[in-house]
Amino acid sequence: MRISLADYERDAADSLEPMVHGYYAGGADDEETLRENRAAFGRIRLLPRVLRPVSHRSTETTLLGTPVATPVMVAPMAFQRLAHPDGELATARGAGVAGALMVTSTLATAPLEDVAAAAAGPLWFQLYVYRDREVTRRLVERAREAGYRALVLTVDTPILGNREREIRSGFRIPDHLSLGNLEGEGHHRLPGEVGASGLALYAHRLLDPELTWKDVEWLRAVSGLPVVVKGVVHPDDARLAVEAGAAGIVVSNHGGRQLDGAVATLDALPGVAAVAAPHGVEVYVDGGVRRGVDVLRAQALGARAVLVGRPVLWGLTLEGAEGVTRVLDILTRELSRAMALCGVTTAQAVREEGAGLIAR
Ligand code: GLV
Repeated sequence: MRISLADYERDAADSLEPMVHGYYAGGADDEETLRENRAAFGRIRLLPRVLRPVSHRSTETTLLGTPVATPVMVAPMAFQRLAHPDGELATARGAGVAGALMVTSTLATAPLEDVAAAAAGPLWFQLYVYRDREVTRRLVERAREAGYRALVLTVDTPILGNREREIRSGFRIPDHLSLGNLEGEGHHRLPGEVGASGLALYAHRLLDPELTWKDVEWLRAVSGLPVVVKGVVHPDDARLAVEAGAAGIVVSNHGGRQLDGAVATLDALPGVAAVAAPHGVEVYVDGGVRRGVDVLRAQALGARAVLVGRPVLWGLTLEGAEGVTRVLDILTRELSRAMALCGVTTAQAVREEGAGLIAR
């Protein structure tokens, strides 16, 4: 029986081929930050309020003006056809049924247009910037044309982190799969080399390690879309993101896959929120969300929403689109229960009470 995200995690580990599981589950170096992300939630103790009517509750919110039924978004994740033959298409269908927004990865195994056609809910597009800016420009224009409502620019990956599970397995994707968004560009294959991560080789060859805040402005101009900057943990970078015109910030360390030893995202969240919130820049957090109460903890610390990655992949692996819906529904139901037990009934109430809901 699968009733929690931990159940999905355990069963997916048994079901996936070790190379694929290692790619999804792994972090960088000693995976300290991967573990810390999770541990940080356990350090936050809530201070619930009582004798408040809670029978009517809503988990609804808006994300850059788009209404959603849940503050749980699907994080961008690469190569989803490694988990299930329907890959990103199933994730998009499943997320929509759960009322959740999905962020589609540049490194999807289906073209972004196909994901949009399958989607039952709102989409944002995660962007890796290619050294060749014309490749990047075409990706961004296609995303806008296909109806994606924002760009999510990953800023914590000038080069790939040292992911030893990928190196040991010689991580690659099988020949029948390709990077659907890059087919027309000739960049749709990962190199395969014994003793090397195919993704690290690909990123090194093609992605731009020289991005700066100016590129955020460039992307806003060429896309006409709001830009969400993903991978900020330092308050000074939050300030620069505000100045560059970012519409949102994802407090993220890439699920512990980039700089091992980086701060847990939940610990970094209040510092970023303090800078961004007064400017109306929305703040989200990812990394280690495994229970609805974690969503509540994040909201109380200043996040408008959270992004969830690996658990969605475990749902996709085991049950396709329905598994994606189920994982998101479990989290959202747990959030609603946690809200009731905490004496709050709306996302706005959680935001307003904020730190008042947290034991010091
Ligand atoms: C891809 O973006 C990854 O981090 O593996």
